[in-house]
Formats: sequence, C-alpha cells, structure tokens
Amino acid sequence: MTRHAAVIGHPVAHSRSPLIHGYWLKKHGIDGTYGLRDVAPEEADTFFANFADSGLVGCNVTVPHKEAAFRALAEADQVARALGAANTLWLEGGRLCGGNTDVYGFLANLDAAEPDWTRALGEAVVLGAGGASRAIVYALLSRGIDRVVVANRTLARAEALREKFGPRVLPVDWRDLAGRLNGCRLLVNTTSLSMKGQPPLDIELTALSPDALVTDIVYVPLETPLLKAAKARGLATVDGLGMLLHQAVPGFERWFGVRPEVTPELRELALADLAA
Ligand code: ATR
Repeated sequence: MTRHAAVIGHPVAHSRSPLIHGYWLKKHGIDGTYGLRDVAPEEADTFFANFADSGLVGCNVTVPHKEAAFRALAEADQVARALGAANTLWLEGGRLCGGNTDVYGFLANLDAAEPDWTRALGEAVVLGAGGASRAIVYALLSRGIDRVVVANRTLARAEALREKFGPRVLPVDWRDLAGRLNGCRLLVNTTSLSMKGQPPLDIELTALSPDALVTDIVYVPLETPLLKAAKARGLATVDGLGMLLHQAVPGFERWFGVRPEVTPELRELALADLAA
C-alpha cells in the first residue's frame, strides 16, 4: 500500500522537504509520496489531534506549528521534550509520536564536513536566541562543550536559554559580542540576519582563533556575508544547507523503512532548486 508523508506548515509552499524526500523515494524505488500541507494556525490543534485520520503515515512540521505538534504528542523523544518542539511525527498503533531532528541535523552536518570539530573546543559562540538557537545550544551542550555564549539583540531571550539549559550557557548582549569573540573556535549564526530580504550580519572576525570554524544556519543565500568574511580570513566554514538535508534523514527512515543518505547528488539538486 502506498505510504504518504508530508510537511505541515503555514506558509509551506517554499519548503524544500518534498524535493529531499522525493529524491530518496525515487532513488530507493519506494511506493510512497511526500507532499505539502498548509495548515492555518487556528486549525493546527485539530489537525494534530486527528492525525490518525489524515491519511499520512507521518510528517515533518515546520514554522509555526512545531510547538502545537509537540503538545499533541502521546509520546515524544528526549530532544523534543527538551526543546518543547517537534518537527518529525509518526504513528505507532494509532498513537501520535514525535521527535525533533534539528539537533541531529545540525550535528550531522558538522560531523560530515569537519569530523573533529569538537576537539578541544572549550567554548562556542552562538548568535541568536530564537527557536533555532535553542536546538543548537542543546546540540552543543549534548556534545559536552564547556560553555556556550549566546549573544542576542534581546538579552532576555538569551537569559531564558540559560534558565532552560543551566550555567554552561552564558547570555551576552549583542552589543557586547566583540569582547566575547577573542580566541573563539566555533561561531554559529542562528539569527535570520543575512537571510534573503533581511539585513546582512556584519561582525568583525579578526579576534577569532585562526583555526576557528564558522557556520551559518541560513542557506539562502548559501554563501552568507558571514561565511564569505570567514573564508576571506582563511577560516573553515560550513554552510547551512547540510543541516536541512541531514535533519530529514530520521523521518524518512521511520516512515519508509530505509535509512537514506545525504549524497553530493542530493546537495546539487537542492542547490539547483535554490538557484531557480
Ligand atoms: P528562529 O525560530 O528561526 O530561530 P526566531 O525565533 O524569530 O526564529 O529568532 C530569530 C533570531 O534572529 C532572534 O535571535 C532575533 O533576535 P531577537 O530575539 O532580538 O528578536 C534575531 N534577529 C532577527 N532580526 C535581527 C536583527 N535585525 N538584528 C539582530 N538580531 C536579529
């Protein structure tokens, strides 16, 4: 029987998930589909409550429904519970279960690009304190990093992350960022700055350690001004497209029974789609 999955969001038309899962379905010759479902915010609770009748074996969940999806779960994995947000749902005996693969996607992307990135790291600096930052701060802490400096325009949101995750998180006002970059070996942008249509993220990178790794979760454009500036200084960089591709892996495996691979061919396909 054909198995159907989809991404649920609002708006959702821009989502690259159908391209990713469509590629894997075809590659593995699986009898399945992966589509888009636009669910309005006021309908989200009802949609998730009745998920067993949706005709889907599972789904991805994107903005703004990750929290509503989490609330609807009969069972949530450890990461979703820690973040209070779910992006991958499936049914088990008619019960709605879910997890959060953003943490996995972030870590798998860095692991694939720079296998020894956690070596002697000590401290990381994370720019931004929104939903994406929450997942990344959790990811870094889960790898045993000593301290995560979180710099945000609205200091209270960075402070909330410290309350949530504990004293290894150090909140910093955006205006005091320069003083925190001295010798920094891992810099992660999670803000929406530099995203198509947003102002660029413009920070001075001279104080970073010469062996620093700079990564951005923004992937439109793929080479953000931050990554460009880092490359110009000879620093290692990892772009955000890999996180998007890797976060899709666990859902596909769960719904369709095959663990798919993030291949260079898939990356090329996604790049061509982004450029179109
Ligand atoms: P997401 O879920 O993608 O993380 P979000 O929760 O809206 O999205 O968070 C966006 C992040 O980008 C926040 O850290 C936000 O800073 P504030 O908490 O101060 O709003 C940051 N951001 C967005 N626009 C910004 C700007 N012009 N200058 C500095 N930070 C900005």
